[in-house]
Amino acid sequence: MKAIFERVSIRRYQDRPVEREKILALLRAAMAAPSAANQQPWEFYVVTDREKILALSAVTPHTRFAAEAPVVIVPVYRTSIKAPSYAQIDMSIALENLWLSCSEQGLGGVWMGIAPIESYMKQVEEILQIREGLRAFALFPLGYPAEERSQIDRYDESRIHFC
Ligand SMILES: Cc1cc2nc3c(=O)[nH]c(=O)nc-3n(C[C@H](O)[C@H](O)[C@H](O)COP(=O)(O)O)c2cc1C
Repeated sequence: MKAIFERVSIRRYQDRPVEREKILALLRAAMAAPSAANQQPWEFYVVTDREKILALSAVTPHTRFAAEAPVVIVPVYRTSIKAPSYAQIDMSIALENLWLSCSEQGLGGVWMGIAPIESYMKQVEEILQIREGLRAFALFPLGYPAEERSQIDRYDESRIHFC
């Protein structure tokens, strides 16, 4: 619960590499997610190449902060699965798990939307040469935080309807 209420978007990163074990811990959390028919559609590209990160950061008008990140995780999903219409929902749960596990590793990051915008998905797939049968889902730039933020309380009882 602590992780849920402390999670924030971190878009500024220290110029410091992220240890492989920490990245693997995040990906372990992502892969612990539930999925429709347990289809686990996910695969993950871990991008540290500067040129590729710069190219990814230019894909949308909202992704420029990714340029500063030492690592960008790009979750992708398989298309040959039992319930393809649920793939992006499954990916969302996995990515939220990953995001929530950042604080435990002392890391910060932010989900940058790519799917379901077809043109953004295609650009990311081209930059990373993602193979046929996989679709780009999002960008998740991350690193050691260079900004401090706290979550704004969004609890709103008027949105709750007991019946
Ligand atoms: C599906 C999705 C897409 C998002 N896309 C972007 C994005 O392209 N660029 C960005 O800087 N933040 C992006 N965000 C982060 C949101 O702006 C952020 O979660 C929201 O403003 C709430 O702030 P918080 O995460 O600090 O609580 C995205 C978040 C989600 C869930």
